[in-house]
Amino acid sequence: MHFTPRVVASLGLAAALVSASPCGPGGVSPIKNIDLGPRPFFLVDDMDDGPLKKKLDSCKEKKMKASDFSIGHRGGGTLFIPEHTRESNLAGARMGAAVLECDVAFTKDRELVCRHAQCDLHTTTNIVTIPELNAKCTKPFQPASNGTAASAKCCTSDLTLKEFKTLCGKMDSSNPNATTPEEFLGGGPDWRTELYATCGTVMSHHEHIALVEGLGLLFTPELKTPEVEMPFEGDYTQEKYAQQMIDDYKNAGIDPSRVWVQSFLYDDILYWLSNEPEFAAQAVYLDETGDTPETFETAVQNLTRYKEDGVKIIAPPFNYLLTADKDGEIAPSKYATRANELGLEIITWSLERSGPLADVEEDGNYYYGTFAEAVKKDGDMYKVVDVLVQQVGISKLFSDWSATVTFYANCFDLGLKKW
Ligand SMILES: *[C@@H]1O[C@H](CO)[C@@H](O)[C@H](O)[C@H]1NC(C)=O
Ligand SMILES: *[C@@H]1O[C@H](CO)[C@@H](O)[C@H](O)[C@H]1NC(C)=O
Ligand SMILES: *[C@@H]1O[C@H](CO)[C@@H](O)[C@H](O)[C@H]1NC(C)=O
Repeated sequence: MHFTPRVVASLGLAAALVSASPCGPGGVSPIKNIDLGPRPFFLVDDMDDGPLKKKLDSCKEKKMKASDFSIGHRGGGTLFIPEHTRESNLAGARMGAAVLECDVAFTKDRELVCRHAQCDLHTTTNIVTIPELNAKCTKPFQPASNGTAASAKCCTSDLTLKEFKTLCGKMDSSNPNATTPEEFLGGGPDWRTELYATCGTVMSHHEHIALVEGLGLLFTPELKTPEVEMPFEGDYTQEKYAQQMIDDYKNAGIDPSRVWVQSFLYDDILYWLSNEPEFAAQAVYLDETGDTPETFETAVQNLTRYKEDGVKIIAPPFNYLLTADKDGEIAPSKYATRANELGLEIITWSLERSGPLADVEEDGNYYYGTFAEAVKKDGDMYKVVDVLVQQVGISKLFSDWSATVTFYANCFDLGLKKW
């Protein structure tokens, strides 16, 4: 065959483009150029002077690496990018989260997809604006009228996987005053942004696994507690669902040591302990049983039982782990002390879900509620992280904006990737 120089040159260019384009699983390759953007530096500059600020200042010009300490909550770009979308995960990975979360829910045809709740499609996607899919919702969109808020309830189990994949991921919000489906999509807090909510790519669990595999990173799937009666449609039991999530990793050839399975449902943890010991070895019991002063005492007492049952890792929200001491400083709570006495590993959630920290005390913010008097401004965020790491001894931290956690991990050499 004879090629003119021009054809040869353009073939060469095409070949170069092909080899430069990512070609691993999930259409991606590992991210080497970790980029934190300005936010961690903004937070450090806002801190009070002292040893911690000095230390963090000294790390500003380091070459940043991905860290196993940094878990991308709902992907890791969730603060500004629609949660559980491919785009949120890519942002989390770019910001150095080496563990990426997929909350797992099931569809009508029993496929697993990434959603924070089985029934949040009306707040995390554009479903109410698609008439034929809105019609399939458990409760289709109802406009606000006569002082009654607008409403809808749309579940992953209302749709097939094929239908689910036609949705656009959006920022998690709804407008109670909406009189049209389009208005219902709004209502997010003003400290988030809609800039990246241009049709986030929703993902199946298989796609999430392929993406994280292509990025060379680690997995933390959470089996979401069903919001429909189980067994679903007669024969899909909780155990089948819990097993299916594990089987997705086995079938993809993923080593259990790269997977941290999580659940709020203690029976799921017990099921994995009995049936999937290799995955159960680092199963994470998500504990939210202690939200009131009374139940908090019970939650502390229950830690003994988890240990006896063979649970290795517990993950309460970080408000369970912290308190304000008599000098008004952030300090470890009774829960943290007890978990450490028992030798339980502690993971916690979630940083960067709360908006400006100057408002958390007045707003009665959930995450800062047990020590709110010790938090006055955004610069205090690294005080929180520092007590969690240095005094509570957490092993990993979920964040809605992974850069914030990755920066701290780089400064204190926590779980850094070699590359
Ligand atoms: C609104 O409330 C009034 C008085 O309760 C009632 O007469 C009217 O039918 C209601 N309208 C709608 C649209 O529900
Ligand atoms: C809904 O209307 C109320 C009353 O006018 C207002 O205070 C509130 O901000 C509105 N909410 C949204 C999300 O627009
Ligand atoms: C925690 O303790 C309370 C009270 O003893 C009990 O009702 C609850 O089921 C316990 N939770 C777990 C997960 O064991």
